[in-house]
Amino acid sequence: MIAQNAHYNEKMASVYEQMYPIGFDTDAALEFFATLAEPGARVLELGVGTGRIAVPMAERGYRVFGVDASESMIAKLVERDSKGEVTVELGDFT
Ligand SMILES: C[S@@+](CC[C@H](N)C(=O)[O-])C[C@H]1O[C@@H](n2cnc3c(N)ncnc32)[C@H](O)[C@@H]1O
Repeated sequence: MIAQNAHYNEKMASVYEQMYPIGFDTDAALEFFATLAEPGARVLELGVGTGRIAVPMAERGYRVFGVDASESMIAKLVERDSKGEVTVELGDFT
């Protein structure tokens, strides 16, 4: 069993998007990733969180997988990922 990440609890998950709004550096990150791999490539994000980067990547055609130790952060990702395009696992990436 994976313990809920103590820092990224429900309270943090509820304000995380205000600290790092979805548009914060998403475009720059996606432009950078585009230099490494083309849409269709498989991508693994360790500590995928609320899907701030992962969901827009999936919308651009990448096959995105994520792992995170926080159920609360994953719950936010699932809320955002209405089409279920990101495959996410609860777990400790170490
Ligand atoms: C600063 S947030 C970043 C989230 C996302 N990558 C982003 O850019 O918005 C860090 C995330 O990493 C997760 N995390 C930290 N250590 C982890 C570990 N050892 N295994 C799995 N997830 C971890 C936390 O639960 C949290 O969701």
